[in-house]
Amino acid sequence: MDVHKIGIVGAGAMGTGIANVAVMNGYEVVLRDIDISYVEKSRQNMAKFMARSVEKGKMSEEQRQAALNRIKGTTALEDLADVDFVIEAAIEDLNLKKEIFKSLDSICRPEIVLATNTSSMSITAIGASTTRPDKVCGMHFFNPAQIMRLVEVIRGLQSSDETIATARALAESFGKKAIEVKKDSPGFVVNRILLPQFVEAARLLQEGVASVEDIDTAVKLGLNYPMGPFELMDYTGVDIAYFVMEYFAEEFNNGNYGAPQVIKQMVRAGRLGKKTGGGFYEG
Ligand code: 3HC
Repeated sequence: MDVHKIGIVGAGAMGTGIANVAVMNGYEVVLRDIDISYVEKSRQNMAKFMARSVEKGKMSEEQRQAALNRIKGTTALEDLADVDFVIEAAIEDLNLKKEIFKSLDSICRPEIVLATNTSSMSITAIGASTTRPDKVCGMHFFNPAQIMRLVEVIRGLQSSDETIATARALAESFGKKAIEVKKDSPGFVVNRILLPQFVEAARLLQEGVASVEDIDTAVKLGLNYPMGPFELMDYTGVDIAYFVMEYFAEEFNNGNYGAPQVIKQMVRAGRLGKKTGGGFYEG
């Protein structure tokens, strides 16, 4: 089906990045969060990102204004009634996501696809909270979504081929490379590889093998990664890393995936990285 207007649920870092990419590629966006101040903040962040895009000669000022005008902010989920596709990017709480999908299912037209940007959770479980599990899939973007080139399109147990093709085509129309995750497995592909790296980095730290800075330097220079594991956890949120580690441990019935003490302590101390102004690095 033709997609012109996209509903995005959640105006945090991921919702903002996805909305930004969508409007820059000509789509209209209805961006919903529970508090209008979050939506306003998100719009400001998009305006800032696009101002840099203008400076870099990647878009004109007129295109920037037109893109910003394509965003409609709201706190009412009902305002997604006429969208052609939904991407949910709310916080990583399965029960909350199920509630959102249940509501979306009753609000949105029955033929449209409802996608979740969950980083790790079960697409099948989320789909089962709707009457259209065949039209539910995962669409996992990477932070910062404006820049990162990959989208994982994830098949829930009941997702149809048409749903996967629609999500894939949408990701590609955003200028992203889409890969298909054929089975609904925790963490899909990228986080299944990334999170054990975070766990191992945290173990090296707590065993006193090397410092935060030296582990990051080792990974950046030895593996040519743009960021080391601690920088990246600070960037994407130590709480998210913790959540996914614990989720893996439970889902795989394997405590080796679980969060090492040093990660647990950071979360208990509220040192969650960029969003709290303190993580493994101060400030
Ligand atoms: N408009 C257009 N392009 C822009 C731009 C803008 N407003 N701002 C930046 N860019 C482009 C730049 O031009 C540059 O591209 P170029 O090399 O072709 O010119 C590129 O984006 C990088 O921008 P910067 O030079 O400003 O920034 P850095 O070089 O410092 O890179 C970074 C920043 C992209 C965040 C880089 O450090 C990085 O890739 N870090 C790793 C990020 C990562 O691993 N993300 C995945 C996290 S895991 C995840 O999200 C999963 C989740 O479930 C947890």
